[in-house]
Amino acid sequence: MTIAPALEPRAGGAALGVPPVQGGGPVSAGSATRSAASSSHASTDAAPASPFYFMDTPGRGWSRSGEDFTMPGNGTAVPASFGLPDERDLRELLSIHRFAPAADPYGVPRGGAPYFAEGAHARTDRHASGAAVPACHPPFDVNAIRRDFPILQECVNGKQLIWFDNAATTQKPQSVIDRLSYFYQHENSNIHRAAHTLAGRATDAYEHARETVQRFIGASSPEEIVFVRGTTEAINLIAKSWGEQTVGPGDEIVVSHLEHHANIVPWQQLASQKGAKLRVIPVDDSGQVLLDEYRKLLNDRTKIVSVTQVSNALGTVVPVAEIVDMAHRVGAKALVDGAQSVSHMHVDVQTLDADFFVFSGHKIFGPTGIGVVYGKRALLEDMPPWQGGGNMISDVTFERTVFQPPPSRFEAGTGNIADAVGLAAALEYVTRIGIENIARYEHDLLAYATSVLAPVPGVRLIGTAHDKASVLSFLLKGYTTEEVGQALSQEGIAVRAGHHCAQPILRRFGLEATVRPSLAFYNTCDEVDAMISVVRRLATRRA
Ligand code: ALA
Repeated sequence: MTIAPALEPRAGGAALGVPPVQGGGPVSAGSATRSAASSSHASTDAAPASPFYFMDTPGRGWSRSGEDFTMPGNGTAVPASFGLPDERDLRELLSIHRFAPAADPYGVPRGGAPYFAEGAHARTDRHASGAAVPACHPPFDVNAIRRDFPILQECVNGKQLIWFDNAATTQKPQSVIDRLSYFYQHENSNIHRAAHTLAGRATDAYEHARETVQRFIGASSPEEIVFVRGTTEAINLIAKSWGEQTVGPGDEIVVSHLEHHANIVPWQQLASQKGAKLRVIPVDDSGQVLLDEYRKLLNDRTKIVSVTQVSNALGTVVPVAEIVDMAHRVGAKALVDGAQSVSHMHVDVQTLDADFFVFSGHKIFGPTGIGVVYGKRALLEDMPPWQGGGNMISDVTFERTVFQPPPSRFEAGTGNIADAVGLAAALEYVTRIGIENIARYEHDLLAYATSVLAPVPGVRLIGTAHDKASVLSFLLKGYTTEEVGQALSQEGIAVRAGHHCAQPILRRFGLEATVRPSLAFYNTCDEVDAMISVVRRLATRRA
């Protein structure tokens, strides 16, 4: 097995955090004349036509028809049992440059000064009108991408690290590491713009980060983006601000059976405080939500529906657009938890029409301790602050306080300025690679991993929904999940084994824990093979 080492040159992203400049120079946000958009390279994102069923819906996760899928009763299934292409086909699909244009791979001049030193934006993905414009991406070269992530050359237990714990946290590209370092070397200050030069730089960098998040998820204005610590704090903010203001006795809050504890506990606390009721959308045996059952839960007492877009425990891609639409039909608000989705698929909050969308920076190649609440502007404007302190006020006397408008109203105290800036660098990195390219590559990698894991004798896959992203939860007969996790760790392979902070969905399958490899776009077939060989060896020992 060969796993690409991290050597120069870094081609998947930018060496030393210097993004390739689009169209030969910086373009300001909102510009309608972005030259790269009109270049002949702008259309090179289009996926080649594919003979494989699972290539038909790029960006939606791995999908196939339920009839195609039969769980292996005797543990001897082959990929064809699952309607999957064989190993050779999948390796071909995952080969380098599959998504590349034939020539001029970057399509734009490289180099130039870091945007953050110039105060200009390296790229924009929306016209002034708000319409999305096609982005220009380098070819998807997994080996080049791997060179952007220094930790992937780490030696763990004598082996090169294989990071399959991406659902817990992702690794960081050099451009994010460099951006954080640049901030602390040249910009560090609190964000009181007018006070002095560094305060101006830090404020610019922080507000640039807010605009970057806005563009990345398609929000209509930066004021709709609130920085928080992560998804957990984001949902707590909404439950404790919007929820406390809106939910009353007898009202109902709907979540799905797939939810992470972070999307259960704050609603449970609110329900018990207010005398409201928590209702749960059930799932089928594949781990997909039952929309007909969901419909039956909705009524005029439903105040909010809060669902994950991708299950962290099973990988199910949930039909959130339908769920949001159905919530709106009964006058309820809808919150989409994007913690496990934003790094794997294109998200546009306006198309989704979610009232709230939340995610964590560290799950999308950014720093820990920074996350986002997106809220529709009118909703945020009506919501009371949930924490009091500095930054969120416009005037304070001992008698009363006048609050700032959103987003400052929800950002009491000194925020995580540097990590917001680091998050923006991560989103810019992902944008340079192209989220559609990432989704397509991961789609194939998940199909490959499933096709080689499922036939291992004694393996039971948990979560076999038609649409999946990134996660392969499984059990191995004769072993505890900890034993499998430890055996993999001995070989330098990091997976999570346990309840994944999603006990209700595991208990739905009669389980307390699974082994959970979770993939990202820097993972490879070779890494999957390395994991499978350990699982096979274990299976043989206790067959
Ligand atoms: N939510 C994280 C996980 O799924 C911690 O592992």
